Parts: sequence; C-alpha cells; structure tokens
Amino acid sequence: MQQDIERILISRERIALRVHELAEQIMADHSGSTGEITLVPILTGAIVFCADLMRQLSLRMRIGLLTVSSYPGASLRTQGSNLLSQQLGDLRGRHVLLIDDILDSGGTLKLVVPVLQSMAPASVKTCVLVRKDRAVAREVHVDYLGFEIPDEFIVGYGLDYDNYYRNLPDIVTLRKSALEPR
Ligand code: IMP
Ligand code: MG
Repeated sequence: MQQDIERILISRERIALRVHELAEQIMADHSGSTGEITLVPILTGAIVFCADLMRQLSLRMRIGLLTVSSYPGASLRTQGSNLLSQQLGDLRGRHVLLIDDILDSGGTLKLVVPVLQSMAPASVKTCVLVRKDRAVAREVHVDYLGFEIPDEFIVGYGLDYDNYYRNLPDIVTLRKSALEPR
C-alpha cells in the first residue's frame, strides 16, 4: 500500500488541526437553541472524518446514515450519484449536519440535501473536508469546508480507489501503476 503513494497532499497533522477548527466553528453555531445536532455522514467515504469530528463536538448528538455511490469500482470520475440506502430516523425539528469527504462534481450534495430538507428538519447544514478546485464544485453551497485542493484524484482518510486505501491516515495521490486494474 505504501509503495502506491505518489505524494502526501494533506498530512494527518494538518487534517487533525483543521478538524479541530471546524469543530470549534460548529459548536459556536450550535450551542444556542436546543444545543442538539444530528450528524449525517455520507457513507462510505465520510466515516473517518465523521469519527474524528464527532469526538471533538461536545454537543448532544444523534447519528443518521446515508449511503451514496458515485465512483463505483475503479472509477476516477463520478458516474452519477445514487442513493443506495438511508437510516435517518425522524428528522422533524432537528438540526442536521450533513458530512461528506469531498466535493467534486457536486452531484452528491445536490442529490442528498433535498432528501434531508423534505423531512422537515429545523435546519440542514453541510460540512465537507475537501473541495476540488473546479467551477462546478464552487457553485455548491457548503457551510463548513476543510480544505481546497487542485483537481486531482486522491485517496486516504476515508477516500478510496476501488474501495481500497480508505485507512491511509494522510490524504495522498496515487502512482499511475496503482490506478491500473489488477
Ligand atoms: P461529487 O458527487 O462529484 O461531488 O463527488 C462526491 C463523491 O465522489 C465523494 O463523496 C467521494 O466519494 C467521491 N470522490 C470524488 N472525488 C474523489 C477523489 O478524488 N477520490 C476518491 N473519491 C472521490
Ligand atoms: Mg462519498
């Protein structure tokens, strides 16, 4: 796995610092009214980010789950987002924070935000760790953004290629040889 890494784009130390800052911002915005939040990580990519972020949030919280597939198998570009499953419970009157790993074409958020909004929550906000430097990505509103990166294919910290590499602690690019079918 290590030999497949081309270069580290965002180190684990930078990620940890930024996650901490995002948590401070989220807490400042949610400490009023009910002081309660429902986190909805988009599976599978957002699991690592959500696991780190939620432990920095000292708020009363619930978790809902959504599974979206957009890069099936060994894809390097979105094949269109599909909602595969949801376990959201009753979101009526709840402050929902949708969490995703990366904003690329924007297809995933455009699909999912209306689904949440249709469930009569008190509010829906979005938190994305990484946004690619693409015009289509910048057009999508994000409330909490971790990093902006060049338009490159990345893995690690939850992000995958063909469902591998999610466990790498840093966000990295892969060598060409790793992106070939084996
Ligand atoms: P969007 O729907 O095109 O905005 O892409 C969002 C989803 O595509 C993310 O949640 C990821 O699962 C996946 N994705 C986008 N870019 C990358 C990448 O560079 N590496 C791995 N997965 C990606
Ligand atoms: Mg995803």
